[in-house]
Amino acid sequence: MQHLPIGVFDSGVGGLSVLRALLAQLPHEDFVYLADTAWAPYGERSKSEVEQRSLQVVRYLIDTHHIKALVVACNTATAQAVELLRATWPHLPLVAIEPALKPATQATRTGQIGIMATQGTIGSDKFKQLVAKWQGERTVRIQACNGLALAIENALDGKANPDGETVESLCRRYTDLLRPFANQEDADGIDTLVLGCTHYPFASDVLQAIVGSAVQLVEPGVPVARQTYRLLQEKNLLRPEKEDAPRGQLTLLATAAHQRLTMAAHKWLGLDVIAKSVPI
Ligand code: DGL
Repeated sequence: MQHLPIGVFDSGVGGLSVLRALLAQLPHEDFVYLADTAWAPYGERSKSEVEQRSLQVVRYLIDTHHIKALVVACNTATAQAVELLRATWPHLPLVAIEPALKPATQATRTGQIGIMATQGTIGSDKFKQLVAKWQGERTVRIQACNGLALAIENALDGKANPDGETVESLCRRYTDLLRPFANQEDADGIDTLVLGCTHYPFASDVLQAIVGSAVQLVEPGVPVARQTYRLLQEKNLLRPEKEDAPRGQLTLLATAAHQRLTMAAHKWLGLDVIAKSVPI
């Protein structure tokens, strides 16, 4: 079992923000990353659609790639489908992702936290439970960012969304709805902004420029990678880490055309891996 790959999936290229942390934490493991670009974005789909599609994608990773563990690198799929995935494959080690509200509560000094995520994540029971658990005395302002994940994907082809919106115009619109933000002079306002969708770290330069340097952006790639390491260790599924062991193999798969995933992996992670297209 130890030599088998770890499966990672997202609706699109966003999960590469998690894969980046996984490759750093587990350099000798093989990974199969699947971007479900044929069905993206998940954020505006119904719960049952996300559930059924997540089942199909994970079944493919198990049957075709014999994965030893799964990382759900998509907040929306976690929020809508993780219970069903765990119930369907109770023996599959599974690490899921959720908006990093817990670390944000430790980081904030003003006690005001903003969360940007998809409509599917924000509308889920799981998200409501997360906020109820960690909010405490803090103010948590929540913003659904329809179209932003899609705009981040489209920007790879140098395109805007069909309605003309771009990454920048959507980031401005949604952060305006979250204001005020703390700044160097004024310590009132949001000082911690949770990127609750794995696509959003790829807009972090744009977001940081808009909200200012007094606001800390929080995303969970590194904690998810650490959790994956711990889980594999606990199950005795880590590859033996010999000093001269070669780096693991990475397979990139897209359910629609592969070019965007190939390009995103090159641009954002510096990888020269050509993605394959798998019509599932
Ligand atoms: N990257 C995904 C997430 O973390 C979903 C984006 C989408 O497909 O809407 O929520």
